Amino acid sequence: LTVRPLGVDDLQAVSRLNQLSFGYTSDRPLTDPTGMHGIHGSDGALVAAAHIRSYEQLWGGRRVPMGGICGVVVDPHARRHGIATTLLRGLLSVLRAAGQPISVLYPTGVGVYRPVGWEVVGSLEDTRIPTADLVPRRAGTGVAVRAAVAADLDAIAGIYAGLGSSGLLMRDGVEFPGGARAVLDHDVATVAVTDDGTPVGFSSYARGSGYRASELRIWNCHATTAPAMAALLQSLSSWSTVAPTVLWRGPTDELALHLSRAVPPPVDRQPWMLRVVDAPAAIAARGFAQGVSVEASFALADPHVPEHVGPWTLRVGGGVGTLQRCKAGSLPQLSIAGLALLYAGAADTGALVRTGHLDREVAGLDEAFAGQPPRICDYF
Ligand SMILES: CC(C)(COP(=O)(O)OP(=O)(O)OC[C@H]1O[C@@H](n2cnc3c(N)ncnc32)[C@H](O)[C@@H]1OP(=O)(O)O)[C@@H](O)C(=O)NCCC(=O)NCCS
Repeated sequence: LTVRPLGVDDLQAVSRLNQLSFGYTSDRPLTDPTGMHGIHGSDGALVAAAHIRSYEQLWGGRRVPMGGICGVVVDPHARRHGIATTLLRGLLSVLRAAGQPISVLYPTGVGVYRPVGWEVVGSLEDTRIPTADLVPRRAGTGVAVRAAVAADLDAIAGIYAGLGSSGLLMRDGVEFPGGARAVLDHDVATVAVTDDGTPVGFSSYARGSGYRASELRIWNCHATTAPAMAALLQSLSSWSTVAPTVLWRGPTDELALHLSRAVPPPVDRQPWMLRVVDAPAAIAARGFAQGVSVEASFALADPHVPEHVGPWTLRVGGGVGTLQRCKAGSLPQLSIAGLALLYAGAADTGALVRTGHLDREVAGLDEAFAGQPPRICDYF
């Protein structure tokens, strides 16, 4: 079974497999096979397909090329014969050749991806919050809100990118052709501006429908200063008379620090998985905390990428890192999923030892990858 890039002749079969597998109907034909890969059976029929999207994801303040995998489907009559595994293994070579050293996906079932080295490192959350509870603890003094306009788009893109949180998808490039302009497509798009007119925050949301029982769908609410966030929240809370709740997209830990009332738990939590596809390139591409200086050696285990297997030394200093071959010895063994967990700051070495991803502690690894848990605000 060979994994091949798909072409326009395959699109009808991809569409059929997708609609069958994911349970939707669509009259809109697929037109662009870019990023699609699949496996054909001996009779030439398509038996499996997947789509690699070209993203950049922020890690340690730097943009890392990331292959986002979606639309993984296997023909119902070919399932449970290892075809998805073959397809995913094939995609690893495709990603490496494309210069995408990491890969992310939203799994319907983690059991399909774990055996090939993807591991859960975070989740995309949606949280239902009473609109009246969005009144901020402190007023947004020195900041006003107004409608966002086209002239604000560069500033909006800058505020989003400047959030600096690891895990965020950069909203530009081929997968976000509209860039920040998409914000203006929402029913309401707001900017918070300082007295001199400088945008320091933005929000955008769908109004929902109905007179008294609507729900605002918050797609964005981001600010670079506390008064700007307070002003945006004050503006959102003004909807409480007609929209008693909001459905908030993304993490709420920082939001909670602005509010008097506790934020409820998420109503939906979609896990996402990370795979380190080309370890030296993944380390070189990301940023590390300034002031951290680490040298740590380990042997990497990866059943699917032979180039990874064996001894490596990680060196971190001056905000950057390298992973270079070193002499074999009796080094601690780290699994490739363990490296994904470290990379994402989703587990420390103690947790890796306890879960069998590392056979003994390695000094320096926790320091190297310490940081905030990753956050993501976009589904694909
Ligand atoms: C999920 C799907 C792609 C799996 O394809 P497949 O060819 O049957 O998978 P494989 O035979 O290669 O199995 C790979 C691993 O996944 C596991 N797996 C397969 N189907 C699974 C399921 N439905 N739930 C949990 N684990 C599953 C297998 O146990 C196997 O693990 P193992 O190697 O440790 O035994 C296929 O069932 C499908 O198309 N489902 C509908 C669409 C879908 O859910 N796609 C995934 C989108 S994220």
